[in-house]
Amino acid sequence: MGNQNIVWHQASVTREQRQQLKGHKPAVLWFTGLSGSGKSTIANAVELKLNQLSVHSYLLDGDNVRHGLNRDLGFSDEDRIENIRRIGEVARLFVDSGSLVLTAFISPFIADRKQVRTLLPEGEFIEVFVDTPIETCELRDPKGLYKKARKGEIEHFTGLTSDYEAPQSAEIHLKTDQQSIEDSAEQVVQYLRDNGYV
Ligand code: ADX
Repeated sequence: MGNQNIVWHQASVTREQRQQLKGHKPAVLWFTGLSGSGKSTIANAVELKLNQLSVHSYLLDGDNVRHGLNRDLGFSDEDRIENIRRIGEVARLFVDSGSLVLTAFISPFIADRKQVRTLLPEGEFIEVFVDTPIETCELRDPKGLYKKARKGEIEHFTGLTSDYEAPQSAEIHLKTDQQSIEDSAEQVVQYLRDNGYV
């Protein structure tokens, strides 16, 4: 893999110059959790707050990206690994552009999340564990997918017939069955303030 005839082209404008123009630090807020855990909802709430703080942000969302860039991928382990690899590369480009990126993908495997972390400079990968018990996700079942999966109509369903490996040391840990969406969003923004990102 990799083509020996392709040489990396160094841009004239540096990431530091782009960062200066934006007025805040870039990073990716990598939300991970089960389907129905609240990743997209919380990421959206965080992005709204960031926008009000004049932060340049961009949200990459699982269901949307799977309609375009990754529409050739399904839910086998192999396809999920490729899904996360591509998202990681896209997130890296956005971070390099100086943006604060939010990603909302189940991203079930520790090794794949770790791999994305290694793509980015130290401190620019912030893992956000949206920790919601599967019983709660199944009760919420916003898209009716747990019901379908229980009937055997969806194979490799995360948490039921496919693994979810919870983060062991995420930078931010949200327990959505104990706190509101607003509280979770505020916790994330507070982390960014406390650590000098915004
Ligand atoms: S990931 O595992 O590859 O990171 P991703 O976040 O992109 O998953 O997509 C998950 C979304 O696809 C879920 O929120 C759900 O709406 C839908 N989905 C469809 N089939 C499955 C499945 N077998 N397992 C989990 N989610 C599924």
